[in-house]
Amino acid sequence: MSGQRLLRLRECLFGLAPWDASRITDEWFRAHFEYAADVVHQWMGGALDVRTARLLNFGCGDGITDLALVLRHGATAIHGVDIRREYTKLPRIARAQLGMARVPAALTFETIAPGTPLAGRHAGVDGIMSWSTFEHVQREQLLPILRDLHACLRPGGVFFLQIEPLFFSPFGSHLRRYDDVPWHHLLASEDALWRIIQNHEGPIDAAEVDFGFADFGVDGYKRFVFKEYQALNRLTADELVGVVQQAGFAVERQERRDMDLQPPPELLARYPEELLRNNEVFLLLRKAGGGAPA
Ligand SMILES: C[S@@+](CC[C@H](N)C(=O)[O-])C[C@H]1O[C@@H](n2cnc3c(N)ncnc32)[C@H](O)[C@@H]1O
Repeated sequence: MSGQRLLRLRECLFGLAPWDASRITDEWFRAHFEYAADVVHQWMGGALDVRTARLLNFGCGDGITDLALVLRHGATAIHGVDIRREYTKLPRIARAQLGMARVPAALTFETIAPGTPLAGRHAGVDGIMSWSTFEHVQREQLLPILRDLHACLRPGGVFFLQIEPLFFSPFGSHLRRYDDVPWHHLLASEDALWRIIQNHEGPIDAAEVDFGFADFGVDGYKRFVFKEYQALNRLTADELVGVVQQAGFAVERQERRDMDLQPPPELLARYPEELLRNNEVFLLLRKAGGGAPA
């Protein structure tokens, strides 16, 4: 019997390994285990029953949000995919932050090469979620990936997609942990930004430090974060809505959140104000069919 099936049997007989949220000390963990999981659940929970749904998390990262969806919201089947392998740290993270001896059998993970089609192996899923991932997908892969995710869903299935921060927003560079000047990435040269990061000393906001930090070390993490900035696809909320519709999704619900900061005149001369202030977008998308609401 495979390890996963043995674990399922064990959970059927004895339940999930005990866990204790009062042990949480890490702010990155808390932000995903509580806030991100609750938002995903609020958006998806109105459209499907997470306790019985087969779910796919595109760009699952370390899998903390998936773990919370199982432990706090009763999800029973989540498959996380990512181009990195941060989720391999989840057993250690769950032990350290929750005192949990085993990650639930409800969670499975997979590493893919960017753009690898999933629909052949993951057809008929009820729901897909993606949190802070689509701003990192290369432009030319956006439409093929979204079409493939559309093909993964059963008719009537839903896709919850969130992006924050959007590129043109005050901290859309994802570099705020090193540079707190709003819109600096639209005002300064890349060389100037890199110098600020290189010269940064002292602690960074704990809620922004993921579990990859220890692998990279202080300077390696700076290089990693800057490369991530350079690779951002600069997608706007309008462009995102356009490409998901092109991929075949209907937008069932959407919300855009703005930052209450005044853009400098030189940026207002180049970009619309709404673009500069729009920091976050949430979309609930649906695949047609299956008796879903029109
Ligand atoms: C900012 S992290 C967010 C991770 C996770 N959703 C979270 O909230 O912690 C973005 C994630 O997207 C993943 N990613 C980027 N491009 C991807 C692609 N083409 N396919 C799958 N995952 C991708 C990255 O490896 C990374 O784990």
